[in-house]
Amino acid sequence: MKNLSLQLILGIESSCDETGIALYHQERGLLAHALHTQAAMHNEYGGVVPELASRDHIQRALPLIRQVLGQAQCEMNDIDAIAYTRGPGLSGALLVGASIGCALAYALDIPAIGIHHLEGHLLSPLLSDPAPEFPFIALLVSGGHTQLMRVDGVGRYTLLGETLDDAAGEAFDKSAKLLGLSYPGGPELAKLATRGQAERFKLPRPMLHSGDLDFSFSGLKTAVLTLTKQHSLDDQTRADIAHAAQAAIVEVLVSKALSALKQTGLKQLVIAGGVGANQRLRSQLNAAAERKGIRVFYPALEFCTDNGAMIAFAGALRLRQQAPQKGYAFDIKPRWDLQQFCN
Ligand code: KG4
Ligand code: ZN
Repeated sequence: MKNLSLQLILGIESSCDETGIALYHQERGLLAHALHTQAAMHNEYGGVVPELASRDHIQRALPLIRQVLGQAQCEMNDIDAIAYTRGPGLSGALLVGASIGCALAYALDIPAIGIHHLEGHLLSPLLSDPAPEFPFIALLVSGGHTQLMRVDGVGRYTLLGETLDDAAGEAFDKSAKLLGLSYPGGPELAKLATRGQAERFKLPRPMLHSGDLDFSFSGLKTAVLTLTKQHSLDDQTRADIAHAAQAAIVEVLVSKALSALKQTGLKQLVIAGGVGANQRLRSQLNAAAERKGIRVFYPALEFCTDNGAMIAFAGALRLRQQAPQKGYAFDIKPRWDLQQFCN
């Protein structure tokens, strides 16, 4: 294996329905990144079809790798290490990224390192300028996860609270589906909600006063379903329901995030994961931040949702502090607790 200081890291993200590829340089930062989203393909089925996702990753990964190399004006041989998403995610989709990453690393005689997808999300705000400093609270809100974590450093994460059932993104997506919106519904629902009237419907705020930092969103879709059955779904009514669903999800997220800051005495909040792109969530957090003297950090929008940059970057940070895995045998971890992974 090449004995180099590992400067140029290729990142491969393929845990779900996005193929993300990026090149991160330890000194020069992010050089290039590219993404192919499969949303249009899965839209037809109303959700991600795992087998189709895997097949699409196979077709996209190498062309995207060539594309980012071209953008960064680098050659395949310039790559010093490869970081790929090892889990959690869809097995077949993860296997594509892991096998391409490890095969390429073997061919180039460079190390490969498997990255926890959520660690990618947690660290992605550090890619932006200004970046938070450790320690901070991270609100991780994606299609599969809703967690509040205390982040003391790379690999030093403490779970403070999480969803007991559906994730916030799932609540957005399921509500959106009930309103006849296409997959993934979160952004569509947010768009529709901008035309909604604030006062017409009020949905429950699950676990708002539970006294802990856990969440529960599964009841919300039932409440949305009830509304859709009680009313004829003209455009305004759909927008009003969208508004109510978004308001309920966002209020709970904001309230629990502020409680986490209060409990820990920390003053920096980082929002990671796809739901972090939500404008209402951002504006409410910003308003609260101003009132309470805290700082909220958001990754650039393109790094909020799944992307290769966060995997390349997490790989770069990990490689600064740990030896890469030995050899090229790999396994994937479709279910992988972040806390377990830290210990
Ligand atoms: O982090 P992510 O790209 O993928 C994982 O789940 O790992 O998050 C995707 C989730 C989806 O549920 C999507 O509907 C939601 O993030 N999302 C949004 C918005 N943009 C993406 N939800 C609400 N408002 C948005 N603007
Ligand atoms: Zn994600």
